[in-house]
Amino acid sequence: MTYRIAPSILSADFSRLGEEVKRVIAAGADWIHFDVMDNHYVPNLTFGPMICSALKPHARTAAGAPVPIDVHLMVQPVDALAAAFAEAGADLISFHPDASGHVHRSIQAIRSSGCKAGLAFNPAQPLDVLDWVIDDIDLVLVMSVNPGFGGQSFVDSALRKIADVRRRIAACGKDIRLEVDGGVKVENIRRIADAGADTFVAGSAIFGKPDYGSVIGAMRRALG
Ligand code: DX5
Ligand code: ZN
Repeated sequence: MTYRIAPSILSADFSRLGEEVKRVIAAGADWIHFDVMDNHYVPNLTFGPMICSALKPHARTAAGAPVPIDVHLMVQPVDALAAAFAEAGADLISFHPDASGHVHRSIQAIRSSGCKAGLAFNPAQPLDVLDWVIDDIDLVLVMSVNPGFGGQSFVDSALRKIADVRRRIAACGKDIRLEVDGGVKVENIRRIADAGADTFVAGSAIFGKPDYGSVIGAMRRALG
């Protein structure tokens, strides 16, 4: 299993975002998780496609290799902003199926813009839509907090949901990433991986500490 760690810049210092992206990549980030909130689908407001395109040149390793920008849309409606983020340099775009009137169409649009497409599930959201679209997506994002804010506690029922998604991915046989988002810490990452997750978003756990590398290193050691 190749594990990926995707720091969420929601908890970074917004007054120097470019530098924060570079620092967290130097500390070992695999992806940069970019939380887009619209004060409508969720009760908070963050950043839009202009910030994404401004950060794009910073999303590289010291050797120049690109680091994927993992856009998590917590917005309603979905399609126009998904297109704008594809244009702004997103590599993966996930949206919440309950925020789109036509989930299959939104997935197709994201993929035809050249990005990988993901579906995000809130803690109380059932997975039924996967019965119909799992073959069309690249990523499933299981929310382990209610979306809108960093620094919340992990909702334990997400472990059962992760296990359910892992069974569905195995049954369809495709290469689909299983990402978990919310309340991920050094202390619980092993348990979350054991449930079946392979990609871990962490905001406050990483940006809340002075040494990002030591947190990411401890997460990798816990993952083994
Ligand atoms: C919540 C966001 C998360 C959040 C995670 O709506 O989707 O990505 O930043 O933050 P932590 O890791 O602090 O729970
Ligand atoms: Zn997120």
